[in-house]
Amino acid sequence: MNILIIGSGGREHALAWKLKQSSKLDNLYIAPGNAGTAALGENLAIDTTDFSAIREVVIQNRIQMVVVGPEIPLVAGIHDFFLADGQLSGIPVIGPDSHGARLEGSKEFAKEFMVKNNIPTAKYFTVHQGNLDEGIEFLKNVKAPYVLKADGLAAGKGVLIIEHLDEAIQSLQEMLNGLFGSASSTVVIEEFLSGVECSVFVLTDGTHYKILPEAKDYKRIGEGDTGLNTGGMGAISPVPFATPEFMRKVEERMVIPTISGLRRENIDFKGFIFLGLMSCEGEPYLIEYNVRMGDPETEAVMMRIQSDLVDLLEGVAQGNLDKRTLVTDSRTAVTVMVVAGGYPGNYEKGKKIKYLETVEGSVVFHAGTKLDGEMVLTNGGRVLAVSSLAGSMDEALALSYKNTEKIFFEKMYYRTDLGFDLK
Ligand code: AMP
Ligand code: GLY
Repeated sequence: MNILIIGSGGREHALAWKLKQSSKLDNLYIAPGNAGTAALGENLAIDTTDFSAIREVVIQNRIQMVVVGPEIPLVAGIHDFFLADGQLSGIPVIGPDSHGARLEGSKEFAKEFMVKNNIPTAKYFTVHQGNLDEGIEFLKNVKAPYVLKADGLAAGKGVLIIEHLDEAIQSLQEMLNGLFGSASSTVVIEEFLSGVECSVFVLTDGTHYKILPEAKDYKRIGEGDTGLNTGGMGAISPVPFATPEFMRKVEERMVIPTISGLRRENIDFKGFIFLGLMSCEGEPYLIEYNVRMGDPETEAVMMRIQSDLVDLLEGVAQGNLDKRTLVTDSRTAVTVMVVAGGYPGNYEKGKKIKYLETVEGSVVFHAGTKLDGEMVLTNGGRVLAVSSLAGSMDEALALSYKNTEKIFFEKMYYRTDLGFDLK
């Protein structure tokens, strides 16, 4: 089978690495890809939302399946575009259509969906210019801290958590007035939940599902989970507090109602559902849906999937995922994200990455790199995801850190405390 992966990050490199292991794969293409994916398939210099350019390469290269990494092309309707095109409609797209993608593209839609399907989640109220007074009233009636969320996609920056009521009211007004552009013309206010977070991944053909290994990601830039939010500084899978009993609750209270809710709404969801949840004293609450895999979680999760991913995705496309097997590795996978100095603020690109060839026993997924002849240069804030699988979390971390120390680029930075909260 010829497969095209859409995206250019560590998640897409990890998907490419896993798909490449399949005997069912013929040719692999990645659009636009990075220096890491170039070693596994052919990179195509196309923007992820340039659907007409994607159409051309799909036809030209006889692509038989498209796997969409990031949310933006999904929310923009890449799956709908394929379905509406006579020449593309028979080519499966892994990822929902724009209706299904609203689970991630609109917080209001997601919360309504959760409530309709009795999925445990924080209490909420939706505010727009027309009902600001009621929004302020809701804020006055919940306890601090106050959680304000832009309804639309805001590049991971649309959530504010605020200690004081006055400040929350002011921020609510600023959001409605365009703080995050049109993404915050509607704001979801939520009750604050206190607990530990975990990412659960579900692969579904719209009817059947498989729960993939769960993972924990580390979002803050600084040691001890301090400082600014990032796209993710590392991930660990499995998550010790996600015991079989906890995962049974997640399946019964969240996964099953999500799949049946999608069917009831006539959403033919074929792809990954990422449940961002919080364990509050052992009880799972759903914080958010994403309609794709997580990054950097994918880099750890793919290492723990032993089954053929092409076979599983074929099951998604054909609606017979129940006939496919998912075998997972019980060992621990970790990924340490190496970032450019200054990230998530201003940082430089184009730094030469050295000594990648000295890495032993880990897989280095490229998150933000590009090739310049034979040279690998940094090309983003998150640069490399040094990933390892071992018998214990400590061993896997030791391996990733040993290899990370061998790599060099100017002003590289990584957190050295991953897993500190899981010991
Ligand atoms: P989201 O984009 O919805 O995942 O929110 C970003 C982050 O804000 C989450 O990963 C949580 O750490 C935090 N968060 C979101 N909603 C809540 C909530 N209701 N209570 C506590 N923390 C939250
Ligand atoms: N790691 C969180 C995300 O991919 O959204």
